[in-house]
Formats: sequence, structure tokens, C-alpha cells
Amino acid sequence: MRKKFIGGNWKMNKTPEQAKEFMIPFVEKIKAIDRDIVDIALFPPCLALNVVKNYSEGNGLIVGSQNMHYKDNGAFTGEISPVMLESLGIDWVILGHSERRHIFKESNELISLKIKSALDHNFHVVLCVGETEEQRLTSRHYDVIKEQLESGLADITADRISNVIVAYEPVWAIGTGKTATPEDAEEMHRYIRRLFKGMYNKDIAGRIRIIYGGSVKPKNAESLLLKEDIDGALVGGASLNPQSFFEIVNSVID
Ligand code: PGA
Repeated sequence: MRKKFIGGNWKMNKTPEQAKEFMIPFVEKIKAIDRDIVDIALFPPCLALNVVKNYSEGNGLIVGSQNMHYKDNGAFTGEISPVMLESLGIDWVILGHSERRHIFKESNELISLKIKSALDHNFHVVLCVGETEEQRLTSRHYDVIKEQLESGLADITADRISNVIVAYEPVWAIGTGKTATPEDAEEMHRYIRRLFKGMYNKDIAGRIRIIYGGSVKPKNAESLLLKEDIDGALVGGASLNPQSFFEIVNSVID
């Protein structure tokens, strides 16, 4: 049995003060949620990491960064390093989010360097992969996902893969209100699991957690999470509100 994982990606939303307003009711709501069944994670903007981390003390919430540079320090204006995150007690990071790939032009090669650096620092990584609408319409979606996974994980040996979660996030479903149907999502998740069997082995393919992202809301979460190969969700817009994010977390339990 793979433990479910529900992550909230706040993107460029919430000041530290607004993060605090979210955390106060949210930590109360999740008190009764059994963490043997589900990991609950929040990925706030870097300036709010400290506040969210402080409110997470003692209640088992995972707190991570939305991105990081692969170097420990140096002349990289505007960047945040793994060492800086470590100093806040942060050891989770999202890498390869489609907004990083498409808006900020991060390549598979750059993402691969970041993954290697994160694992070298003993971080847990949520590696996002996903095709654009055009790639799906021209039936290239499987090839795109394969390329993103194979190049992203090129240097990662089997003994280090347990710290990786894959998030399948079709670009056309992110922030658009268009969700992949549970059947379409399940089909891709099953394909990703098969890829892991080839890249690593059957045991790893069975254990790797593959979560879905793209317009996950309280009303569609359950039907997605019921699918055998969907191990959780990465939630953007609906994670900004403590009640709706809680409802998504709770749909794992129901
Ligand atoms: P969304 O974002 O839920 O707002 O579509 C998901 C994500 O980008 O992780």
C-alpha cells in the first residue's frame, strides 16, 4: 500500500501574514487526519516558509519550497539555495513545475541538475512532469513524459529514488478548470509506473508515488483519488483556502 500524498502549491500567493491566517484554522482542521494514511504538505512562497514551518511544528505537516537552485551559494541573483532551505529546516522541494518549465524556460537538463543537488542534500523531491495541449492533441504526450522523466532522473540511482514523488500535471489542466478525466489520468499514471519498471525495477515501480495535479478541487478529488495508480494530488488554486484544501485532504479518508 502506498501512502497518499496531498500537497498544496501556493505559487506566488500569500504574504507571511496571509500565510499565518491560513495556518491557524488549517492546523486545527487537520488534527484528526490519520497521517499513516496521508502525508499533507504545503509549498508556500519562500518568504512565508518560516511562518508555515513554525505553525507546522508538532503536527506532522510537511513544508517545502516551490523551487531551488542547484548550487549551494554563489553569484546567482534572485535564487535560493538548498543550504538556505536547510537552515530553515526545509528538506522538501518541488522541481520541474510546468510554470518553471514554460514561463521561466527551465530545461530538462537544468531540472536534472536540481534533482541531483536536492537528493545530494537529502531532500525529498516532487518532480513535476506534464504535456501541453498541443502535445496531447498530436499524440506526443507519452513521449514528452518519458523524456522529462528519463532526463530528469538520468543521474539518480535506485538507492536514491525513494525520496522522489512524481506529479503528473498536464499543462492544459493547470489553473484552467479543465481536469483530466480520472480515466485519462489513471492511464498516464499507469504508463509512468511502467516506465519506472524499465528505468529501475518492478519493486520501485510498485512503490513510487505518482500524484495528479491540474484543477483538483473538493468536488473532483475523490473520483481521481479512487483510481488505483493515483497516489495523491498536487493542488494549486484550491489549496489557498484552508476549508477547500482540508476537504481535498479529507476526501482521501472518506
Ligand atoms: P491548479 O494548479 O490546481 O491551480 O490547477 C496545480 C499546480 O500547478 O500544481
